[in-house]
Amino acid sequence: MIVCKSREEISAAVDKIRRQGRSLGFIPTMGALHQGHISLVKKSIADNDCTAVSVFVNPTQFNNPNDLKTYPRTVDADIALLEQTGADIAFIPSVETMYPEGLENVTESYDFGAIGAVMEGAARPGHFNGVGIVVHRLFDLVKPDRAYFGMKDFQQIAIIREMVRQRNIDIEIIPCPIVRETDGLALSSRNTRLNPEQRNQAVQISQTLFKAADLGQTRSIADLKSFVIDTVNNVPLLEVEYFEIVDGQTMQPVANWDDADWIVGCITVNVGDVRLIDNITLKQ
Ligand code: PAF
Repeated sequence: MIVCKSREEISAAVDKIRRQGRSLGFIPTMGALHQGHISLVKKSIADNDCTAVSVFVNPTQFNNPNDLKTYPRTVDADIALLEQTGADIAFIPSVETMYPEGLENVTESYDFGAIGAVMEGAARPGHFNGVGIVVHRLFDLVKPDRAYFGMKDFQQIAIIREMVRQRNIDIEIIPCPIVRETDGLALSSRNTRLNPEQRNQAVQISQTLFKAADLGQTRSIADLKSFVIDTVNNVPLLEVEYFEIVDGQTMQPVANWDDADWIVGCITVNVGDVRLIDNITLKQ
């Protein structure tokens, strides 16, 4: 595996793959890699001749400075895990490499319309603009054929698809299933910040979503929404930031089960100062 840090290094590595006529899969990450990320790397290895993974904690997508400061960083372990999994390229740029103009001079701006106005877009102003900026810059540098994203960040996938559509980018976006702990908790780099008591209680997030999926259309959308919010809020250390039942294509809340063919429940829960997200398909 080659480790690239500069723009010159990643461009040389990618150009070589292109000259050899080999296909390239890409997984952008913020590091603190876990088996959820590794499932994306394995899928890319299966689909493509070569696989590149970036590890970059992107400052422009954090609206909360404390979240950026405390975001877990485990670069050496990440490199070892990527090597062991069989990735070909690890791209580990600095902030200066990704933002040579300086963070205060970043001017790109995206309008994702209604898709970006709800849930994470409403709760974290500027977040999706930062995601769009960094993913576009990474795509420009890595020039992959396919890019892989985990469905835990359900709305993010819709945002990336919209960015690719708006900017006419010829990269196939491949969503991959959520990977869960054996008790159901969705894998997340932020899980490492939970203390044992928080970790024990956090399992109630996914367990409640599973119950909601079982209840499904036996309840109205409004009743199911209240069930999830009340059940999670009854767990002492959990506080629901939002739970929305949305059209899986447009991300817009639905009022009735007939409003969309694909309906997904998306939740964000604060566990102390750790913000966890998860989602579940309720109709497809
Ligand atoms: O999902 C993430 O880890 C990040 O939002 C991404 C896509 C790597 C962009 O920084």
